[in-house]
Amino acid sequence: MTILGLESSCDETSVSILQDGKILSNIISSQDFHVKYGGVVPELSSRAHLQMIAPLFKQALSEADIKKEDLDLISATAGPGLIGALLVGLNFGKALAYSLNKPFVSVNHIEGHIYSGFLMDDKPEFPYLSLAVSGGHTLLLLVEDDLNITKLGSTIDDAAGEAFDKVAKMIGLGYPGGPKVEEYSERGNPNAVKFPVAKLKTEYDFSFSGLKTAVLRYIQKEYQNAENIPEGDKPDIAASFQDAVVRALEKNVEKAIQNYDAKSLSLVGGVAANKAIRKKFSELAKKYDKKLVIPDIEFCGDNAAMIAYRASILYENNIISDLTANAYAALPKDIFKVL
Ligand code: KG4
Ligand code: ZN
Repeated sequence: MTILGLESSCDETSVSILQDGKILSNIISSQDFHVKYGGVVPELSSRAHLQMIAPLFKQALSEADIKKEDLDLISATAGPGLIGALLVGLNFGKALAYSLNKPFVSVNHIEGHIYSGFLMDDKPEFPYLSLAVSGGHTLLLLVEDDLNITKLGSTIDDAAGEAFDKVAKMIGLGYPGGPKVEEYSERGNPNAVKFPVAKLKTEYDFSFSGLKTAVLRYIQKEYQNAENIPEGDKPDIAASFQDAVVRALEKNVEKAIQNYDAKSLSLVGGVAANKAIRKKFSELAKKYDKKLVIPDIEFCGDNAAMIAYRASILYENNIISDLTANAYAALPKDIFKVL
């Protein structure tokens, strides 16, 4: 079975072709021009997706060495994400499915991330605990089988990636913040400043807004404002912040490992590229004797291979979308079961 995946929810246009689980092509084109605005500008993102989607589709066919008529299934991200951006990939996919008379499956972006571990040779085993950490979401999930995903917890304010991006901005590291904070952290002392981990009443939820405020207060107290932070002090602030994020994620994941009999542990989403978080997950997996699946960096950030893979699973379960499938900005409340 040959599946086309399309992803355009934010600032990556991605087109992928999977054949019987094998990746024939996974092209990811990142919209680097947002850097000068300090964040993603939605209208510019939509326009760039429009420019890129058709040429990337042609390139993917050529890399995979197939014709468009060879595709058996077309899939695209429907949400959550920026509406204008989503509409580009979704409508391209629907039009293609209509013209080729092939089935179409719309995919939830987060489900795509959750399934990105299956793109690796060593795959997660059910039931597994998945931490999905991206710019928009921080979700701890119990994946019992392909259609039974329970949300154990999520962030009550900022997503982990959002906190990385905002703190990077605060200390003048630029955008996108995650990779910059990681780079500075490697030269810093994680114990230089003890930033707090939020204490919540719910067992598995996360909160990063207090941490963000703590970093801001620290900067105000020590330097009055960000312009006065000496370059030499930035690594310690970055490393101390990153360490607080690692501790916050570890706390809930460890509780979930202790309370649920999961076979595997998986870390996915853009923030899963972070080496300190990857290291913490590998320590947890070792400590509790769990199989660990973290996708290669290429599959942590937004990519269409994960969308095509999730579409193949939905299709196997007879879940097919009709061509009225619409884009949605936010994660639907009922997409995952709740505790
Ligand atoms: O999954 P993703 O590519 O897009 C969304 O669906 O949001 O995640 C993007 C997020 C951004 O907030 C970015 O700063 C963060 O992932 N990120 C990182 C790293 N690489 C990307 N955060 C921490 N460390 C990294 N190395
Ligand atoms: Zn994403």
